[in-house]
Amino acid sequence: MKKLWLIVVLILVGLFALTTTLGPRRPFRPAQRLMREKAQLSQQLFTAVVRHDFSLVSTQAQKLAVLTQSASWPSLMATNAALAELGEQLPQRAEALSRAAGTSDSEAVQKSFLALTRNCVQCHRHLQSPKPAP
Ligand code: HEC
Repeated sequence: MKKLWLIVVLILVGLFALTTTLGPRRPFRPAQRLMREKAQLSQQLFTAVVRHDFSLVSTQAQKLAVLTQSASWPSLMATNAALAELGEQLPQRAEALSRAAGTSDSEAVQKSFLALTRNCVQCHRHLQSPKPAP
């Protein structure tokens, strides 16, 4: 499990560094504020998961779900089925994490958190090379 956490940390650090570097060159400025809120919530969520603060995990995951549910994603996303699907999955994953945190089941929280993180990374990977889905 330790190794898994190391991978998660590396993924998150890479994601934050990469998107900040690539950000200014990308053509979705209007979504910027929403994305920043999303990133902030995710960071708080990560800290809460690491601290096993399940009640904070639950509330932050719920906030992330609400935020990303009402998200007006960049128009690019509507034209790419893979991106649109990942965008739809994000609030579902956040909901699932919130529910898992509600049960205080540490394993379930870790699994849900990893699933959520995978969703972030997958979408951002597509954004870096926006080719049609295979
Ligand atoms: C469905 C696609 C999608 C998913 C899923 C997604 N993002 Fe993003 N993210 C974007 C887009 C689009 C942008 C805007 C890119 C830009 O402005 O350059 C963005 C921007 C960001 C930024 C940069 C914000 C800034 O200040 O410029 C960060 C950090 C980020 N996302 C983190 C995350 C995290 C963490 C998750 C998972 C909880 C996540 N993203 C899930 C599409 C997604």
